[in-house]
Amino acid sequence: MPFTSIEEIFSGKYEGKQVAIRGWVYRKRETKNTIFLVIRDSSGIIQCTVKRGTPSWKAASKATIESSVSLSGTVRRDKRAPGGFEIAADKFKIIGLAEVFPITRDKSEEFLRDVRHLWLRSRKMNTIVKVRSEVLRFIPEFFRKQGFIQVSPPMFISSAVEGGATLFGLKYFDRNMYLTQSAQLHLEALIYSCEKVYCVAPSFRAEKSRTIRHLTEYWHVEAEEAFTSLEDLMRLEEKLVSYVCQKVARQCKPELEVLGVEASALSQVKTPFPRITYDEAIEKLHKKGFEIPWGEDLGFEEEKALGAEFERPFFIYAYPKKIRAFYVKAYRDNPKLVMSVDLIVPRIGELATGGARVDDKDELISNLEEFGLPQEGYSWYIDLRKYGTVPHTGFGIGVERLLAWMLKLESVMDTIPFPRTTRRAYP
Ligand code: 4AD
Ligand code: MG
Repeated sequence: MPFTSIEEIFSGKYEGKQVAIRGWVYRKRETKNTIFLVIRDSSGIIQCTVKRGTPSWKAASKATIESSVSLSGTVRRDKRAPGGFEIAADKFKIIGLAEVFPITRDKSEEFLRDVRHLWLRSRKMNTIVKVRSEVLRFIPEFFRKQGFIQVSPPMFISSAVEGGATLFGLKYFDRNMYLTQSAQLHLEALIYSCEKVYCVAPSFRAEKSRTIRHLTEYWHVEAEEAFTSLEDLMRLEEKLVSYVCQKVARQCKPELEVLGVEASALSQVKTPFPRITYDEAIEKLHKKGFEIPWGEDLGFEEEKALGAEFERPFFIYAYPKKIRAFYVKAYRDNPKLVMSVDLIVPRIGELATGGARVDDKDELISNLEEFGLPQEGYSWYIDLRKYGTVPHTGFGIGVERLLAWMLKLESVMDTIPFPRTTRRAYP
């Protein structure tokens, strides 16, 4: 008999029929005459009963938590069973008997991260991994609809994108190189060929911060578009975020239920998002009692306070030049400010950073000098401004921050199977 997935059984079409399933023992309870086993597979969990005196009894009584098993039996409707169906098993086989499973009582965050390779089997992690997979499908779907071409940037790079402090260096044969912090500069080269490009790739940050929103390795969605303004960019970003939220709300209903997230909260994420300038943000913060001086970068606390006020995603744009990267274009009428924009969400703060890029060769060279960066390392990047330069914009959004925000998770560490942080690179 072919194996049926547990999810299919809950459709009801197998009621009264014989099915075979395989999976792992999730829970087990024994009474005098019945063994109740909750079996899980990738699609869900179902209760199975084995009666004393049947040939399956011996194997079922031996089965331990997390043993892999296969069984067959009759599907019965039972109001008391979770999901309303159970299987009365008549054949039961142990595939791999499990030793005592280490995750029982101790469910502290630290411990669960130590045994992440096993904790991935939990319903919570199984569900998050599934939503992540969907989000990683919706994002390319969105970009394709918008006419973007997916490109594959390099991970080994020779010059910093986002400043030296968070660069991971490595020996590349007899040279020093780095792991990429952002694909942006390479995406910029590609717009002169494809105009609209995006990528989904890992970025690396030797990030000392130990917060709920920092990883040393994260998945970065980045896009770059020729012939665009800062306003075009904000429209693209809000469209993407709203698209993903609507799709998850509609297509991940069972997963959202497991995670206790209301689908309606996600379907309410609609464009346009509010936009405020950096100046307005500082003014709001002063009114809230923050003492941050004009010209300083907003930190987690400041962003959280603003996020709590808006209770939805919003943009902050027009930042002071000295707190932004060398590649951001300055306002012509106020060169102290640059066309940089952060997308902020409640609880997590910064979700994305983007902006208009310097498209003038001389402005770029003078910025490199101002930021103390060697021109040689960026000569290919300067070239892009020599041969048919165009106004262009782009942004980067962290997949883990997006998921942590949408799914109301405590930390970005919960959104990726094997999180990498300053303190954790195992398992
Ligand atoms: O703000 P960042 O550093 O901007 C850039 O890298 C630009 N070059 C992107 C671009 O314009 N193409 O990073 C962009 C986003 C952040 O807003 C955040 O969501 C995520 O990447 N991010 C991190 N996520 C997890 N852990 C970290 N350490 C992160 N650093 C940035
Ligand atoms: Mg940023």
